[in-house]
Amino acid sequence: MMTSPITQSAQQVVAQDLEYICANLHDEFSRMAGKKLLIVGGAGFLGYYLVQSILFWNKTGGDDHVIDLTVYDNYIRGVPDWLTALADDANLTLVRHDITEPLPTDIDDFHYIIHAASIASPTYYRKYPIETMDANVNGLRILLEYCLARQDSRVPVEGFLFYSTSEIYGDPTPEDIPTPETYRGNVSCTGPRACYDESKRYGETLCVNFARQYKLPIKIARPFNNYGPGLKITDRRVLPDFARNVLAGEDIVMLSDGRPTRTFCYIADAVVGYYKILIKGQPGEAYNIGVESPEISMAQLADYVTDFARDLFGYQGQVVRQMSQDKDYLADNPNRRCPVIDKARTQLGYNPGISLEEGLKRSLLWYADNADAEEA
Ligand SMILES: NC(=O)c1ccc[n+]([C@@H]2O[C@H](COP(=O)([O-])OP(=O)(O)OC[C@H]3O[C@@H](n4cnc5c(N)ncnc54)[C@H](O)[C@@H]3O)[C@@H](O)[C@H]2O)c1
Repeated sequence: MMTSPITQSAQQVVAQDLEYICANLHDEFSRMAGKKLLIVGGAGFLGYYLVQSILFWNKTGGDDHVIDLTVYDNYIRGVPDWLTALADDANLTLVRHDITEPLPTDIDDFHYIIHAASIASPTYYRKYPIETMDANVNGLRILLEYCLARQDSRVPVEGFLFYSTSEIYGDPTPEDIPTPETYRGNVSCTGPRACYDESKRYGETLCVNFARQYKLPIKIARPFNNYGPGLKITDRRVLPDFARNVLAGEDIVMLSDGRPTRTFCYIADAVVGYYKILIKGQPGEAYNIGVESPEISMAQLADYVTDFARDLFGYQGQVVRQMSQDKDYLADNPNRRCPVIDKARTQLGYNPGISLEEGLKRSLLWYADNADAEEA
């Protein structure tokens, strides 16, 4: 792969992404205009563009165009600077709230709710397994009960999105890769990842049954390996780990044999998919959001990052292999992960368009300006 030397700042990358997201969500954001959206867990990686795309949209039209946004987060992964910097926005309300606790008594009448509150990094959800389960089960239940209580009110909830995960498929058998939504999964219920996988599976069951029994507009996203701006460099997922090595001028350390494969979906494409599910998804239905190709190994990813970093920053390191000091680092780690995304394409018009080459380049440019982050 070939790249050009540094051409953009992180700010320009973000501006370009926000324009792309809003252009691809014109219909959906127009339908949300004048209404109230709550994002729970909006201080995390996905929150970075879920939040900023709404605020960006709000600036592109008149008053009747505005989507009023509230973010609840308990900041278990820290308080990010990007969110603090937005605190004065007139259409944004930030509330420190743990979703496993009863809802604030002065809670607003929300038309749309996104439940993204759950630690997504394996290193961190294994550190907080009970909190992870509680957010996906008890926290979800609290929000679903809110939807139910408002059903016959003046302002019923018009759309609810629960974040599940591609990890609900576990380690799919070879004939089930690429994996469609109909695949039932091959998951351990007691392994080190089970706190995450199984609570997401139960969460989906809860959503489907609330949607069926009470006819509520509850939809589910199954993200496949998102990456890009907003994923903080200390997150301990693979790309930020590689970026951290690069920007410290160290060799890239690969903590596996390099053979597991993934398809990586750039965050701007994924966020388009998530809002499409919220607005256009069918109640009680789950949608894979990711890309079908290229499916690359961790060794290939490390090579790409090395090449790009060489072109962009004159990086001189190489890839080395090490054993993680964390004995569970690779336990139950799926060998391959690759989605079928036909359902989102045909039902929602989801059509990811940013190549891996372009996405990796934008990510590294963003990391160059965001090389410091809290260890949390
Ligand atoms: N990023 C991905 O590729 C990916 C893949 C699969 C699934 N998901 C799911 O998408 C959602 C968001 O992922 P992310 O990458 O932004 O995760 P993240 O870990 O970066 O952010 C999660 C946010 O939720 C908050 N949070 C956690 N528990 C909470 C609680 N009890 N109350 C309030 N806030 C709480 C955290 O403080 C954090 O700000 C999660 O449900 C995750 O499981 C993400």
